[in-house]
Formats: sequence, structure tokens, C-alpha cells
Amino acid sequence: MIELSQVVKTYQAGLATPFTAVDRVTLSIPAARLTVFKGPSGSGKTTLLTLIGCMARPTSGRIHLHGLAGDALPHLAPAEALEITSLPERFLTAIRRRTFGFIFQQFNLVRGISVLENVLLPTYPTGEDPRAVEARAVARLESLGLARHLRSSVDRLSGGEAQRVAIARALINDPAVIIADEPTAHLDSRLSEEFMDLMSQFKDAGKTLLITSHDPIVYDSDLADMVVEMRDGRVVSET
Ligand SMILES: Nc1ncnc2c1ncn2[C@@H]1O[C@H](COP(=O)(O)OP(=O)(O)OP(=O)(O)O)[C@@H](O)[C@H]1O
Ligand SMILES: [Mg+2]
Repeated sequence: MIELSQVVKTYQAGLATPFTAVDRVTLSIPAARLTVFKGPSGSGKTTLLTLIGCMARPTSGRIHLHGLAGDALPHLAPAEALEITSLPERFLTAIRRRTFGFIFQQFNLVRGISVLENVLLPTYPTGEDPRAVEARAVARLESLGLARHLRSSVDRLSGGEAQRVAIARALINDPAVIIADEPTAHLDSRLSEEFMDLMSQFKDAGKTLLITSHDPIVYDSDLADMVVEMRDGRVVSET
């Protein structure tokens, strides 16, 4: 479970007046379930996910990970409730790499390098045996139908292929939590359905899935266990 209590994010730097993008959010997000965040543009969905994913720190409030940090911090027992907002930066980095996998709207693939190199990027700092990691990356890409493209430059991929590379990259360190920000925004309905099929497999594998979406294929899906609706930085409903 991921537990947020009174989480606030106020942007201040370079602004004439501070702006509160996430406003006193208190929420329990179940593990091994799919939670969808919806709401109008600017309502704070992406900001909230960056706080949960340890990419930014809240201005105030607390976020606890219950039993999700795995072996990211070896000195902590896995089942322990971990309060992430007060952790030193180096621990946050470890959790960001080990516990979370990110899929962004624009996929954020690194241009000019190959598909395989993109998938391997998050593994460089972990110090694992490079051959084992590469074998895993190849297997994952093959299972996503990308065997033909292992050495292709990502610049030449179609939208659906690019997205599957982004998924392979998000999963390469076997994260407990997958965060996807508007993952279907650039996909047609067939590829969006395909994306949801993959999410279904990951849910069956026990992953915790957090997805922001404006897309009814995502938030109306039977796979969605919880839909959190946001407005002006606040949670207005949970269903
Ligand atoms: N670094 C920043 N500095 C100042 N304001 C920011 C910053 N990042 C985001 N914001 C503002 O915070 C608000 C929430 O942004 P956020 O990206 O979380 O919205 P969102 O719900 O994901 O919207 P969308 O559906 O368009 O992706 C917006 O008004 C945005 O302009
Ligand atoms: Mg957003």
C-alpha cells in the first residue's frame, strides 16, 4: 500500500505568486492493483505521481510505502513502512530506480541510440552483471514483439513500437510499482487496448499500477480497481 497524508506541493521558484499544484491529498493506494488518476488538465495528476515516484519532494505531508521498497534499501526489512518524504537523496535515488518504473506520455526515449540501449539505461547504476541484464532486456523486448528492432535506432520506430520500448525500459529493474503518465495519449484505440492487455498481465504478476489518463479505455476499464478524480490539486472522488 502507498499511503499519502496531507500531501502538498507548492511551486515557488521563479513564480511571482506561489502555486499549489497538489493540495492536502490524503489517499491510500492499494498494492497489486490498478489505480487510475483522472481530472482536468492542470489538476495535479502528474505532479502527484512525481511525488509518489520520488522524482520530487512534497512541500509538506507524508508518503509511506508499505512493503513496496523491496531490496532498494537492503538494511530495511521489506515489509517495513517506509516514509519517503524525509529520506536522504541517495536513498530516494535507490528507491526511484528499484521500486518504480516510469512510462511517460512522450515515452522519453533517448534518440540516436538503439532500442536495446534505451532499455538498458536504467540498469547502468545498479552494478548488476551486464550480460544477465542484457539477456533480460532482450527477452523482454522479444516478448513485446520487438525482436526485429533490438539494434534499430529508436528514431525509426512507430508510435506503438516506441511505447513498447518505453514499457520494456520501465520494467527492466523489475519494479514493484509501475507509474504511467498518459500512456495512451499518442496511441490509437487498438494500441491502447493492447497497452491495457499488458497492464493486465503486470497486474496478474502482482505489480502495483498507477496510471494518469484522460482516456476512457483506461479509466472505464474493468481492470481499474480504483479511479481517483482530481480537481485543482485536490482529490474530489475515489471510486
Ligand atoms: N515546475 C513547475 N513550476 C510551476 N508550476 C508548475 C510546475 N509543474 C507543474 N506546474 C503547474 O502545476 C499544475 C498541475 O500540473 P500537472 O502537470 O500536475 O497537471 P496534470 O493534472 O498532470 O495536467 P495534464 O492533464 O495536462 O497532464 C499546472 O497548473 C502546472 O502549470
Ligand atoms: Mg499530466
